[in-house]
Amino acid sequence: MTTMLKITLFALSTVALLAGCNGEVEDTRPGQPVKTRQMAFKEIVRTFEPMGVMLRNDRYEADKFTTLVEQLIAKRDGPWSHFGADTNYPPTKATPAVWAQAEKFEQLHQAFIKATDELALAAKARKKEAVEAPYKRAHDTCHDCHETFKKR
Ligand code: HEC
Repeated sequence: MTTMLKITLFALSTVALLAGCNGEVEDTRPGQPVKTRQMAFKEIVRTFEPMGVMLRNDRYEADKFTTLVEQLIAKRDGPWSHFGADTNYPPTKATPAVWAQAEKFEQLHQAFIKATDELALAAKARKKEAVEAPYKRAHDTCHDCHETFKKR
């Protein structure tokens, strides 16, 4: 192997390592907007994911589900104000489209709010059958947004 090739391979593997450890890049900016919004998304997931597990495992419990929906509603506004102009920097997982297509990003944010409103309304029936489709629609709004606006 030539020295040049060795150096290139070393450089490539270092890049791959850094990319794999995204979470270890510190957000050093004042107020840590990237870290703050990432934490806010994680809090949303902590309420949203257990609902999905309940439904998939056929372990729906109305009280638990209602509590999770209330927590989701309480947490759903967390990330958005931390996507300020000029906050596209490592360790963000946002794509540049967040800023380049701000209107579309806002539309998908509102679709998420609407879908979670509908989920909360459906949960009042306290029946698994009532929440399944609204849960799926809310879940789809996460993916619709991530498709364009979050790196994979
Ligand atoms: C309107 C767009 C949008 C919607 C809706 C949305 N997300 Fe995201 N999400 C993002 C963006 C952009 C990021 C990347 C944030 C960053 O790294 O700066 C992200 C990041 C995340 C992360 C990664 C956090 C981390 O850094 O580890 C998780 C997990 C996540 N979202 C879950 C969800 C779930 C679950 C839903 C739905 C209940 C959801 N998101 C709805 C845009 C969205």
